[in-house]
Amino acid sequence: MVIRALVLVLVLSSCGGNTNKSMPETKFTGENLFIQRCASCHGIDGGLQVSTASDLRKTVLSRVEIMKMIDSGGNGMPAFKTIIMNSKEKSKIVDHVLTLRK
Ligand code: HEC
Repeated sequence: MVIRALVLVLVLSSCGGNTNKSMPETKFTGENLFIQRCASCHGIDGGLQVSTASDLRKTVLSRVEIMKMIDSGGNGMPAFKTIIMNSKEKSKIVDHVLTLRK
């Protein structure tokens, strides 16, 4: 019963998520975006370090430098310039990265 209810909730929420494509930038939090785009290498807490990915909990980079890293990548980090073009979304991701810092 519980599982069926959960599946229903998931189906309903995923339908709802597809209806408004015009304003995706307000729908996702920085954490959502980070998990979608970055966690495969950096991990949810920033410390996974898949194939030499930097430990983001220890980064000393500034906001601007993190922005630049997201745009251009380098040394195994992919460039996201053509993937994350929405500057509001990028800014939310940077905010989230800064919260990972320990
Ligand atoms: C395919 C794996 C991969 C993905 C996906 C990825 N990164 Fe990285 N990232 C790396 C690697 C590898 C490095 C180390 C680059 C280096 O040594 O210069 C890195 C380095 C960084 C750095 C520099 C940290 C420092 O202190 O030097 C930042 C910031 C960063 N990534 C943020 C992100 C963000 C934000 C995302 C999501 C938009 C992301 N990364 C997605 C692999 C990845």
